[in-house]
Amino acid sequence: MTRPAVLVARAVFPEVIERLAAHCEVDVNREDRIFTRPELIARLAGKAGAFITGSERIDAELLDANPQLRAVCNMAVGYNNIDVDACTARGVLASNTPDVLTETTADFGFALMMATARRIAESEHYLRRGEWTKWRYDMFAGTDVHGATLGVLGMGRIGQGVARRGALGFGMKVLYANRSRLPADVEATLGAKWVDKATLLRESDHVVVVTPYTPQTHHLVDAAALALMKPTATLTNIARGGVVDDAALAAALKAGRIAAAGLDVFEGEPSVHPALLEVPNVVLTPHIASASVPTRLAMASLAADNLLAALGLGPAAGQPPTPLNPQVLARQG
Ligand code: DGY
Repeated sequence: MTRPAVLVARAVFPEVIERLAAHCEVDVNREDRIFTRPELIARLAGKAGAFITGSERIDAELLDANPQLRAVCNMAVGYNNIDVDACTARGVLASNTPDVLTETTADFGFALMMATARRIAESEHYLRRGEWTKWRYDMFAGTDVHGATLGVLGMGRIGQGVARRGALGFGMKVLYANRSRLPADVEATLGAKWVDKATLLRESDHVVVVTPYTPQTHHLVDAAALALMKPTATLTNIARGGVVDDAALAAALKAGRIAAAGLDVFEGEPSVHPALLEVPNVVLTPHIASASVPTRLAMASLAADNLLAALGLGPAAGQPPTPLNPQVLARQG
C-alpha cells in the first residue's frame, strides 16, 4: 500500500514528526519560515493531509488548487484561519485542538490580567532602566484583583477557566457576556451572572476577552465599547487579534480612558500597532497563552492524531478525535 504524503507546515516537536513518519511520507517545513500563499499551495501538491498552525490560511482557492487534500489539522483551538464550510463542501476533514490547552490558557489569561492590574511589566522595565532610587507611597500603585469584578467576554471553556480562577481563588464577582447562558449549576459554582456586553463593560474592574474571532466578533471591543469602561478598569485580550480594535485601544490607553491593558494577540500579528509600543500601561506578549511545554506537546500530538485518523491510519483510523466537520466522515464512511 502506498503511504500518503502529508505536509507539516511549520516546525514542530520531533517526536510528533516521527509519529507521522511511521505512517506517512512527511514533508516538513524545517526552516520554519511562514510559507507565502503560492508557496503553501505549491508545497501541498500531492499531499493528502496537512498539519497546520494558525499562520496557514485554508480556503476555497487553496483547496481547489489541491483537490487531492483530505485533511487539514490545526495545532490550535482557534480556527479562524480555516474556512470550514469550504472544507466540508469539498469533503476535506478539518480539525482543531480543544480541551488540551484550556487550563494552561486560562492560567495565562489570569496571569496577564494580574500583571496588567499590578503593573508588573511597567515596573520591571523601570527597574531595569536603573530609575529606581527610592520607595514611594504611590509608586506603581495599581488595581486590586481580589474581590474585584471580573467581566469575561466569551464564556467557553477557557473563559470558564478564567472565571473559576477569579471566583474560587480570588473572591471575584463574575459577570459574563456570551451568546448562550451557562447551565444554572455552572453559574452557581462560579457565582457568575449573565449580562449584556454594555453592562459587563460598565461594571467590570477587569475585562478579559476570550471569544472566538468571527465576522460577528470583529472589533467587539472598539472605541465605543472602551468608552463604557471604568477609567480604573483593565482589559486583557487572549482571544484573537481583531476582536479588539488595537488602534482604538492604544488611543484609550494614551488618554487614560482605561487604566491598562494586557495583550497576547494582535491585529495583523506578528506586527503590533506602533501606538501600542509607545504607551507604558500595556503588557505585551507574543501569542503565548497556550505555551507550556506539556500543553504545546499535547496540542501537537492531538493535531497529529487527527491527521492520521482522518487519513485512515493509526489506532483511531477513521475516527479523528476532534473534528470540526464530522459530517465529512459520515459521507466518506
Ligand atoms: C489557539 O490554540 O488558538 C492558540 O491561540 C494558539 O494559536
